[in-house]
Amino acid sequence: MRERYGPWAVVAGASEGTGAAFARQLAAEGVNLILVARREGPLTDLAAEIARDHGVDCVTGSIDLALEDAADRMADLADGREVGLLILNAGADSNGALFLDGALADWEALVTRNVMTTMRACHRFAGPMRARGRGGIILVGSGACYGGLPGITVYGGSKAFDLVFGEGLWAELNPHGVDVLNLIMGRTDTPAHRELMARKGHAFPDNCASSEDVAALGLARLPHGPVCNWALEDEEVGYAGTSASARRARIQQIAKAMAG
Ligand SMILES: NC(=O)c1ccc[n+]([C@@H]2O[C@H](COP(=O)([O-])OP(=O)(O)OC[C@H]3O[C@@H](n4cnc5c(N)ncnc54)[C@H](OP(=O)(O)O)[C@@H]3O)[C@@H](O)[C@H]2O)c1
Repeated sequence: MRERYGPWAVVAGASEGTGAAFARQLAAEGVNLILVARREGPLTDLAAEIARDHGVDCVTGSIDLALEDAADRMADLADGREVGLLILNAGADSNGALFLDGALADWEALVTRNVMTTMRACHRFAGPMRARGRGGIILVGSGACYGGLPGITVYGGSKAFDLVFGEGLWAELNPHGVDVLNLIMGRTDTPAHRELMARKGHAFPDNCASSEDVAALGLARLPHGPVCNWALEDEEVGYAGTSASARRARIQQIAKAMAG
């Protein structure tokens, strides 16, 4: 990881669940970490644990990714370090409401975090990666990206943006040695997911993926973007009705025709 991508990774949404699993697995590979979430306490605890267990350097920053200047703050936190990996994990919908029953301000915050901050952070961090000729970006996505569903309208729309954006980014950056992966998760056992289910009075399903397995898959599949669907092989038709490899082939075919 360190050799292929570089000495530092930014993990946004790192304080728990899949983000923390990414951080631990990267640290085990000797990658230094810049950990971002809103709650400083869990971040500093994780940083101390990681530094103790793996001897890597950890920087933490309490940043609300739903703020307009979140990507600038992430870049300030990185402070010129060579960031070779950008993992954007924060992104769940904690509102759990039908569109018209939710406050517009909450939907705007979700879109700012999942769409604007994602785009801005990629612009800030991918430029130096392209210049160096190495790097990797993982956009943690959801099966909700593949079609509209009631109750997750804005969330699904934001994840659809991330999917299409990430696919285009993969086509643009891959020739420059930068890997991009949309890691499309299924239901996963995370604290945020448990909290939402409890708030809605729903029993927590017993067939969820573990955060550790999902993070491990993301890191393993990063060189094979632009899409990886949890629990589905590359050729397997998934939630979208098209396979990951068919989506890849389509992008490559059009990109080639455009280059011609
Ligand atoms: N869990 C699932 O079943 C499932 C299924 C499909 C896709 N996903 C995707 O997996 C990713 C992680 O989901 P999750 O269930 O772990 O929930 P999550 O609410 O995205 O929480 C993950 C991390 O993001 C941080 N975070 C959330 N909002 C933030 C904000 N505004 N600014 C900064 N940090 C923020 C949280 O820490 P703080 O609270 O400290 O900020 C936490 O560390 C999301 O992108 C989600 O769409 C999850």
